[in-house]
Amino acid sequence: MTIVYDDHDDTATDVPVRRIRFTINGAKKVAEVEPRLLLAHLIRRGLGLTGTHMGCDTTNCGACTVLVDGRAVKSCTMLAVQVDGHQIETVEGLATASELHPLQEGFKEEHGLQCGFCTPGMMMAAKALLDANPDPNEEDIRWALSGNLCRCTGYQNIVKSVLWAAAKLRPPAEPAADESQPPAPDESQPQAAGNGDGSQQ
Ligand code: FES
Ligand code: FES
Repeated sequence: MTIVYDDHDDTATDVPVRRIRFTINGAKKVAEVEPRLLLAHLIRRGLGLTGTHMGCDTTNCGACTVLVDGRAVKSCTMLAVQVDGHQIETVEGLATASELHPLQEGFKEEHGLQCGFCTPGMMMAAKALLDANPDPNEEDIRWALSGNLCRCTGYQNIVKSVLWAAAKLRPPAEPAADESQPPAPDESQPQAAGNGDGSQQ
């Protein structure tokens, strides 16, 4: 990132930069950053990953939410140097080349977005929730998304979208045992040798 500043009295010195290494959406990266650079700016301007949005720049809206080592963080509130040695996930890492992530499908199926500005942050906060709790109830979802603001949807369809994704991500339940059938014989126990008429000798 280029920063231009006034050098009124020839006393300006070079702005120090620090080399950091991190992984983003599975790709290893090295960057030289000023210590004051925000993580959101590294992601958007340095890496060109503009799916991470910035709505407020003051930790209120959650549009800039990404995952750092699996935890949802507001990237406008974290410095880029703080991700040195860590793993970052952004909304661009959700889909594969051929398939949407179930969260993306859920937002589509349940109409969880209108303008879409809050959506990347909502999805990343929801991903952190589902990774930790695959079977959340509505209250769990509302709590997990309580740091993310949406000015369009009224939230109801966002909650439904996350429930949709959770259901798709859960492995199918085992079929219940049929209690109307007698239990199968325990083949680990030795069977008594019979004489064919059911009596024992
Ligand atoms: Fe980070 Fe709003 S831009 S919380
Ligand atoms: Fe517009 Fe959420 S869909 S702000």
